[in-house]
Amino acid sequence: MKTLFVASEAYPLVKTGGLGDVVYSLPHALAARGADIRLLLPGYRSLLRQLDQVRILGWLDVRGAEGIVSARILETRHPDFTFPLWIVDCPPLFDRSGNPYVNASGQDWPDNAERFAVFARVAAQLAQDALDLDWQPHVVHAHDWQTGLVAAFLADVPTRPKTVFTIHNLAYGGYFAHGDFVRLHLPSHWWSPEGLEFHGGFSMLKAGIVYADAVTTVSPTYAQEICTPEFGYGLDGLLLSRQYKLHGILNGIDTSIWNPSTDAYLPAHYSMSRINPGKRRNKQALLGRFLETVDDEVLQAPLIGLVGRLVEQKGIDWVLAALPVLLAKTDARFVLLGSGQAVYEQKLSRLARQNPDRVFVEIGYDEPLAHAIEAGSDLFLMPSRFEPCGLNQMYSLRYGTPPVVFRTGGLADTVVDTNTATLADATANGFVFETPAVEAFLDTVHRALETYRQPAVWRRIQQAGMGRSFDWHDSAGHYLSLYSM
Ligand code: ADP
Ligand code: GLC
Repeated sequence: MKTLFVASEAYPLVKTGGLGDVVYSLPHALAARGADIRLLLPGYRSLLRQLDQVRILGWLDVRGAEGIVSARILETRHPDFTFPLWIVDCPPLFDRSGNPYVNASGQDWPDNAERFAVFARVAAQLAQDALDLDWQPHVVHAHDWQTGLVAAFLADVPTRPKTVFTIHNLAYGGYFAHGDFVRLHLPSHWWSPEGLEFHGGFSMLKAGIVYADAVTTVSPTYAQEICTPEFGYGLDGLLLSRQYKLHGILNGIDTSIWNPSTDAYLPAHYSMSRINPGKRRNKQALLGRFLETVDDEVLQAPLIGLVGRLVEQKGIDWVLAALPVLLAKTDARFVLLGSGQAVYEQKLSRLARQNPDRVFVEIGYDEPLAHAIEAGSDLFLMPSRFEPCGLNQMYSLRYGTPPVVFRTGGLADTVVDTNTATLADATANGFVFETPAVEAFLDTVHRALETYRQPAVWRRIQQAGMGRSFDWHDSAGHYLSLYSM
């Protein structure tokens, strides 16, 4: 099965969130099951700098915002990838420093419409073997709004590969103005409510939903939620009408990278059958980054971790509201890593300054610290308002760090609340609240901290999480059957 993966990020070359992890792990899981993969990425400056040897496959000229844009297509073999990477090298669009989507002040790059329309046009050309490489994919699998136009460009091509479009997050719709539509010379028949049009502008995400042969999202519960007004961002009606081609396939995690018994970022290793002393050493090392002395009393108090984008989706406002209460009423400490909205960054940093021996905040993106927090914390917070899948809760389950989550999306599909029944059947692996409000979140954290004081019960919860398989193998199987449907 020849499959062209098209995405705007892939770990470890460029990653802003879970999309990057999935675009790394899923094609590897597919390749392990026999698929022949090419992964197409934009040639961002930082990405190109990480490549050793590249081969020029050819040049493609496609329409940009102000005439024809020429893209050089590169092929590279990267040691972290078992299949070839294809790169769209187009310096005016991608050769700039910083984040793939936003400038240094956090605003969308003003030419994002052109950047990702050109990227999609090139992808559609390569999907038709426009460079005569004798490699014609059976399937083109595109991800999120940045690649939504790929399926649209291919829709009218007579002999074309099957198109699969995965929604990783409906909250990011790739919305642009009518002026961009005109400048980019997008086909005029797309400009309709049945096409790309969306409230006077257009949405690249909508293009993927309308024109792909199959649409997937990253958990079964989220696949249902996005068909409702509460989670649908105005696209729920469309999604409901496309339910016949909408599939919810749960993400996996890369267990070669996220494995507490081998993780190279950890000072000590541990496993389900022997959690301590390994996990405790990780806690000690993590605390040691922030405190001068880590005595027994400090070690025994619960340490609560959080890693994530600091945006409303992740319930950071609930965390901010709950923190002062938890500081006053419990002996817990907090270690929080993330970056995102400036107001959240500032408020968290202020709390850390006010409570230097109990609240530790790192603003930024730090892969090693993310691993250290997953391993060294006792409890993990992920109170997302919505969560298409979520990887962090799966990492925390695997690292014996039970998560506190709101029952939504992939969190609902992976975290089992602790109660008498779930403890009895050994499925309890975390703590789940049902009402989207800070009181419910706080109650649940309190409940978790009470359980933490019962070591035998706690160990059973940890082991249930550590023992659950989140391997990509099964999910990859679902994708493969979809590809061949
Ligand atoms: P989302 O994709 O919505 O951000 P996920 O839970 O699916 O949420 O994935 C987040 C990924 O990004 C995880 O691999 C997580 O470890 C990582 N991550 C998020 N923020 C940071 C950060 N500040 N530093 C390091 N890794 C981060
Ligand atoms: C998105 C979602 C997250 C999901 C990730 C990978 O960023 O917010 O829930 O895990 O994509 O699919």
